[in-house]
Amino acid sequence: MGYPIVRNRRLRRSAGLRSLVRETVLGADDFIYPLFVTHGSNVKEEIPSMPGVYHYSLDLLHEEIKEIIASGIKSVLLFGVPEHKDERGSSAYDANGIVQQAIRAVKSWAPELVVIADTCLCQFTDHGHCGVVVKEERSGHTIVDNDRSLELLVRTAVSQAEAGADIIAPSNMMDGFVHAIREGLDATGYNDIAIMSYSVKYASAYYGPFRDAAHSTPQFGDRKTYQMDPANSREAMREAEADVMEGADMLMVKPALAYLDVVRMLKEQFDLPVVAYNVSAEYAMVKAAAQNGWLDERAVVLETLTGMKRAGADMIITYFAKDAARWLRGED
Ligand code: PBG
Ligand code: ZN
Repeated sequence: MGYPIVRNRRLRRSAGLRSLVRETVLGADDFIYPLFVTHGSNVKEEIPSMPGVYHYSLDLLHEEIKEIIASGIKSVLLFGVPEHKDERGSSAYDANGIVQQAIRAVKSWAPELVVIADTCLCQFTDHGHCGVVVKEERSGHTIVDNDRSLELLVRTAVSQAEAGADIIAPSNMMDGFVHAIREGLDATGYNDIAIMSYSVKYASAYYGPFRDAAHSTPQFGDRKTYQMDPANSREAMREAEADVMEGADMLMVKPALAYLDVVRMLKEQFDLPVVAYNVSAEYAMVKAAAQNGWLDERAVVLETLTGMKRAGADMIITYFAKDAARWLRGED
């Protein structure tokens, strides 16, 4: 007596048994691959804090797109690194802006690839904030003006849809952005273009390498007045609920790793697809440790991505997408 009747190890005895009872399976079509596009030609410049991630000029982007498609990835997320920045981020909604050009190019090479456009102003404003900056009369403080920002974000989204984007992904965290963008898209004939809302975006230190990559560090202050406080998850539900009511087609949680509880809450509460953004510092941490020989990169990455999916993510935006797709095929 005293021996266990329940022995969970019975189903772990072999690879075959384990695969029969596996609950979560990753595939290349779960991944969205972020790309940084820039002006000029012959540019393929590695981002120092993100080894293996590059800025591409459009001429070299074509090769990269072919590789992405060959790896089985079905979707890319485009970020622009513009030549010109100004107070109102005008390159963001320029019909000939770098993102608009990239969307047209990618859709012409690969019409079947799902092209998602990040909709924000921070890469395009000289002050690096995600909206329009004004001096508030009553306090004398410089603030990001929500409603004036919305006008420019709507123009940006419409210009991206016009260029051929399949999905608009607003990351700006202004209040009412989904509603404003939905209305703007509908009014211009793009009522069947989906919105992947960065619903729950935290004011996170995990965006550091991305800001180096996209040259989008705020020149003063921080983003805590519009991005969420990392301490809150009930507020995350309010954010998501507002987006659902405003017509979002997908809900995103960002970053992923420190917020998997929020991914799970969204999954349980809403019926919309949930997206987890495995952000730049989550990538950089693993890369740095791997380069030091401190961990098994492949195993750590696949475990992490599986964890995100298990938590409730239907898809994952990740800089590891190409590597992970290759590893899932059994290649090195
Ligand atoms: C811009 C934006 C950011 C990221 C995606 N879109 C940075 C920020 O809000 O400062 C972060 C992505 C990453 O870290 O990988 N609004
Ligand atoms: Zn931004």
